Amino acid sequence: MHSLSTRLLASSAYLQIEPSLSAWLSQISGAVTANSQKRMFPRAIGRRSSTSTYSNSAQFRDEVRAEIDKYDSKIPIEEAVTPPSSWYTSPMIAALEFDLVFGRGWQAVGYASQVKEPFGFFTGSLGSVRYLVCKDKDGELHAFHNVCRHHAAPVASGFGRSASFVCPYHGWTYSLDGKLQKATRLGGIKNFSARDFGLLPIPVSLWGPFVVINLQSKVTKSSGVENEWLGSASSLLIKAGITASLRHVKRQDYILNCNWKVYCDNYLDGGYHVPYAHGALASGLDLNSYTTTLFERVSIQSCRSRSVGTESAHRIGQAATYAFVYPNFMINRYGPWLDTNLVLPMSPVQCRVIFDYFLDEDKIHDEAFIKDSLEDSDQVQKEDIFLCEGVQKGLESPAYNVGRYAPKVELAMHHFHNVLYKQLSDWDVN
Ligand code: FES
Ligand SMILES: [Fe+2]
Repeated sequence: MHSLSTRLLASSAYLQIEPSLSAWLSQISGAVTANSQKRMFPRAIGRRSSTSTYSNSAQFRDEVRAEIDKYDSKIPIEEAVTPPSSWYTSPMIAALEFDLVFGRGWQAVGYASQVKEPFGFFTGSLGSVRYLVCKDKDGELHAFHNVCRHHAAPVASGFGRSASFVCPYHGWTYSLDGKLQKATRLGGIKNFSARDFGLLPIPVSLWGPFVVINLQSKVTKSSGVENEWLGSASSLLIKAGITASLRHVKRQDYILNCNWKVYCDNYLDGGYHVPYAHGALASGLDLNSYTTTLFERVSIQSCRSRSVGTESAHRIGQAATYAFVYPNFMINRYGPWLDTNLVLPMSPVQCRVIFDYFLDEDKIHDEAFIKDSLEDSDQVQKEDIFLCEGVQKGLESPAYNVGRYAPKVELAMHHFHNVLYKQLSDWDVN
């Protein structure tokens, strides 16, 4: 059960972390006046610093509900329309997503080799949540909120190795199992026990090469991470060669001026855009062999290579497998490569996509092959960024509200929207 005030608090936290948002808000208020159909919770926007009268009103509740229900997951793909453009622009939908989508269930945050040895750690953030993943001296994996229990400074940044986390503000020191080890100049303090001031833990686990965390406060591990995160797709992913034995080669970040779902939609269109947007990639793929298989929260798209012997076929191998793990993680296996794309919302109209490239052990010293492959991949990303940013502008235009699906091709996208709708619908305004 999720109260409205929780949502509004999440919303205001979200709004505070995004400095570019106020400029964007003034931009859309113009669009709101120009097009009443695209009015996106204007009163909520106007009251972003307050959770008073309006937030408790039935009118507000109805507006949120109406916005979500503009999508109907019961309509078959042949007749369905896509979610409305407000899902891709509204701060309130973005805030709901943080609470209902990213704040629940397992979320990929990194890879096992980042914390392979004791004392290894990395940090990151998901919305307003700052997290820290580390391996303690005994090799046990932990995740914590990266927030000092004194006055809330982050206790670690970046990644690396460390014997303890020393807060850079006043020096409170935490061991890698989260305990508060040292806090100086507390003479005279009453009702304080170091035992109660350790870093707050976050459930964490490994699957194959990936580290996943769960921001839900209470997690039942009864069915196991594999089942909860990947469901019945897990065995297929193992068969596709997604294992912990691959070597990490490179990380590359891209900032895109589009809603995070625009990037996911682009990934999930069953190769529809490939011949038009990615000429070089299309030449190596047999697009007629494209198949899409849907699981509970995972969809897997596969495509055979066009011909063995060409340069791109060398990179792609015999087939490419593109697995989308709801809500924001993509696992791509082709030839000796595995790359992952983690899509992180930064504002309703901006996201960050982190690419991690892994390679089969026997190719790890083939520098020319690695260089060519990474250049090809970067080219594809640039082509996709151009498309996604153009789509975002279209979604913000008064000319567009909803679109349609190509029924035999865009199945994975429809599936993504259905799972998202189900989660967004699961809110309660008490
Ligand atoms: S905020 Fe960390 S020691 Fe003060
Ligand atoms: Fe693409």
